[in-house]
Amino acid sequence: MLRAIYPGSFDPVTYGHLDIIERAASISDELIVGVLQNKAKTPLFSVEERVTILSEVTKNLKNVKIVPFEGLLIDFAKQMDAKVIVRGLRAITDFEYELQMSQTNRKLNADVETLFLTTSLEYSYLSSTTVKEVASFGGDITQFVPEFVAEKVTEKIKERRSK
Ligand code: PNS
Repeated sequence: MLRAIYPGSFDPVTYGHLDIIERAASISDELIVGVLQNKAKTPLFSVEERVTILSEVTKNLKNVKIVPFEGLLIDFAKQMDAKVIVRGLRAITDFEYELQMSQTNRKLNADVETLFLTTSLEYSYLSSTTVKEVASFGGDITQFVPEFVAEKVTEKIKERRSK
């Protein structure tokens, strides 16, 4: 039984993330999407909202579970009894950070391997940060995220502005 973890902030989840989720789910028995609650950062969506959004857009994938986590990823992997961490690589610019993270995680626990999937070419430019930026200036984000996510992002930006 291969249980893998795909960790991230997913603020918000994009088609690039969904591409990795679908492909990682197809090569594992169970894929846990770990949603980071990072108290040092102020995300657009709370961790509970991100979990709800991810659950909605992955509901067709029966072996995918969405689980929030805090603290070290490697501890979360152990807690979930997962042997593999999956990360997506978009471009060479991702490589240095991902290499550093995977080597640190391997030092912390050599029983957990990091597996890199290269993001499909059509999503190689995509990031949650640019999606938020486009949305904040009123741009159309429906080609970057599912309709359901686009609505939530627009709603949240309006809500933030009205405060
Ligand atoms: O979607 P992101 O923001 O690129 O995901 C980054 C994430 C969540 C994978 C990374 O920040 C992480 O694992 N955070 C947990 C803290 C941790 O384990 N840090 C040490 C790894 S070097």
